Amino acid sequence: MISTYEKLLLENKAWAIEQVQIDPEFFSRLSHVQTPEFLWIGCSDSRVPADKITGTQPGEIFVHRNIANMVVHTDINLLSVLEYAVEILKVKHIIVCGHYGCGGVKAAMGNHSLGIINKWLRNIKDVYRIHREEIDKIDNEEMRTNKLIEFNVAEQIMNLAKTSIVQKAWKHDQRPHLHGWVYGLNDGIIKPVCEMEPGSHIDPLYEYDNL
Ligand code: CO
Repeated sequence: MISTYEKLLLENKAWAIEQVQIDPEFFSRLSHVQTPEFLWIGCSDSRVPADKITGTQPGEIFVHRNIANMVVHTDINLLSVLEYAVEILKVKHIIVCGHYGCGGVKAAMGNHSLGIINKWLRNIKDVYRIHREEIDKIDNEEMRTNKLIEFNVAEQIMNLAKTSIVQKAWKHDQRPHLHGWVYGLNDGIIKPVCEMEPGSHIDPLYEYDNL
C-alpha cells in the first residue's frame, strides 16, 4: 500500500516527465530566470491554489499565502516578499485574493480563543470594527461573513498602498496596479471587488514625502 506522501513523489515524477514531453525546454528555460508579472497574496486555504484557478504556469506568478490573505505592516515575511517582488522582479500587478467562506474571517468574527492565531485574527477584527455598522445590519450570518471578506480584501489593498515600497514604485515607475479579488469556493469564479492604480489617492496621514 502506497502512503499518501509517497503518492506526491510519484505524481511529481509523472508531472516532470509529462512537462518535458510537452515542452523539451520547459525546465532549462525556467531554471535560469523568473520574470513573473504578478504578485499574488492569497489565503493558505488548500482550496484556493493561485496557479490552478488563474490558469497560470510556473514562472508566471510570485506567491505569498497566509491565513486570510492579510497585509500586516509588521510582518517581515510579507514585507520581504513584497519588496523583492516590487523592486527586483518589478511586478506590474499585485493581487490580494480572498475567498468566500474563509475560515480565518469566520474565526475572527467569533469569540473563541484559538491560541497564537488570536493575534493574527485581531487584524481582521479591526477591519470588522471599522465596518461594523454596515456588516451587522445584514441579517444572514453567511452574508455577514462574506461582506467582511470583501471589506477585508479592500483593507489589505489599502495596507499595500500605505507601504513605502508601493509608494516608491508608484512615484518612480508608475506601477504596480493593485487588485482586490474574492474567489467563490462554490462556483470557482473570481469577483473583482476593488483596485488601485499607480498614483491613487491615499489618506495623507500615510503618505511619505521623501521617497
Ligand atoms: Co481563507
